Amino acid sequence: MYAERRQRLSVRMRDAVALVFAAPETIRNNDVHHDYRQDSDLFFLTGFEEPESALIIAPHRDEGDRVILFLRIRDAEREIWDGHRLGVEAAPTALGVDKAFPIDELPERLPGYLHGATRLYYGLGRDGREAHDQTVLRGLKAARHMRKKGIDTPGDVLDPQPLLHELRLIKDPGALDAMRKAAALTGMGHRRAMAATRAGLRETQLQAAMEYEWLVRGAQRNAYTSIVGSGPNACVLHYRAGSRVLEDGDLVLIDAGCEVDYHAADVTRTWPVNGKFNDQQRALYALVLEAQKRAIDHCRPGRTFESVHDLTVKVLVEGLVELGLLEGEVDTLIEQETFKRFYMHRTSHWLGMDVHDVGSYYLRGTSRSLEPGMVLTVEPGIYVSPDDETVGPEWRGIGIRIEDDVRVTADAPEVLTAEIPKEIADVEALVGSAPLEI
Ligand code: GLY
Ligand code: MN
Ligand code: MN
Repeated sequence: MYAERRQRLSVRMRDAVALVFAAPETIRNNDVHHDYRQDSDLFFLTGFEEPESALIIAPHRDEGDRVILFLRIRDAEREIWDGHRLGVEAAPTALGVDKAFPIDELPERLPGYLHGATRLYYGLGRDGREAHDQTVLRGLKAARHMRKKGIDTPGDVLDPQPLLHELRLIKDPGALDAMRKAAALTGMGHRRAMAATRAGLRETQLQAAMEYEWLVRGAQRNAYTSIVGSGPNACVLHYRAGSRVLEDGDLVLIDAGCEVDYHAADVTRTWPVNGKFNDQQRALYALVLEAQKRAIDHCRPGRTFESVHDLTVKVLVEGLVELGLLEGEVDTLIEQETFKRFYMHRTSHWLGMDVHDVGSYYLRGTSRSLEPGMVLTVEPGIYVSPDDETVGPEWRGIGIRIEDDVRVTADAPEVLTAEIPKEIADVEALVGSAPLEI
């Protein structure tokens, strides 16, 4: 899988060299680090998880010298503290690369790999990677000396991300397999959270019940920090789970997903803490659900990314007018963006190795068409601020979002997260069916 991806990249690079570094380690405080997660691009091309590594792809070189990994050498003392290192000797066989060298040798070996290439693909100027930029600039300078001898060296430094990210945008079988697993485990977590719900639980306790489920079943980590918002907290778009206690009559909104083999799921469900939507909650939930289903069905080849959002907004605004939360002509409310009081975020983003995944949304300034193999979220919502005095008090503080992960196919869209209940009757039946006892 990784060799095939490197091959696809090589074909697109032609006579260029690519250099991709590992993610930097980041300090949390003192000598304690944040959890380490490999750079998605490097992992996409190698499956290698160690920090302090870098990959060179040099298709212009001789066979057996085209894919080079630089990595940490074995170190018995450090391995006691940080764990096993693959090491230079084992790397070619373990990872299928042509050669491996100690990472400390990258500066001196880089100029050699630049000889004979006319362009270098390297992402200059990324946060926290200033030392890498220096290594690359020195390498280019050293390589340039060879021009006197009639040897090509790169004159252009290009960002590799447009090339690489177009590859990542269309999910290959390996990516899709991991995404299906992430979706399935995320579903188990959300179902557990629904069943565990009862008044009196803290948001963080619900979070724990959910995350336990996917971690014990094989997810490696969360794809992002879980959002567990109860009552008015459901209206805070970037809320995290906090200490608020769930109350009878609240809705709870969970936006959370796990990561399997570096691929994400991103799912939101909203449900009543007491297992029964009240009239206002039910009306708004039914509207969000209708908008979401219409938008999902719209995710077909040839339709633009933008049109998924436009359709969602239209369905939501029509419904909000019907319910009396908005007044006026639907077209005017859309044109003047009056609806943003209740629906202020976009409907979709790409999903893949990163939760807000890579790949451009526009081509030559216009919204790009959906193509088979792309995966996007569809996540409409309605959020009525607790302080919104333009609506009756019975509507205030209701926050609802429903989010699924959708794969575009040649035909009808495939919802990777379709098994997670979202119909009103299914949600009501599941909520509180196995309450968490603490
Ligand atoms: N969980 C982040 C998002 O839905 O975009
Ligand atoms: Mn989400
Ligand atoms: Mn999302």
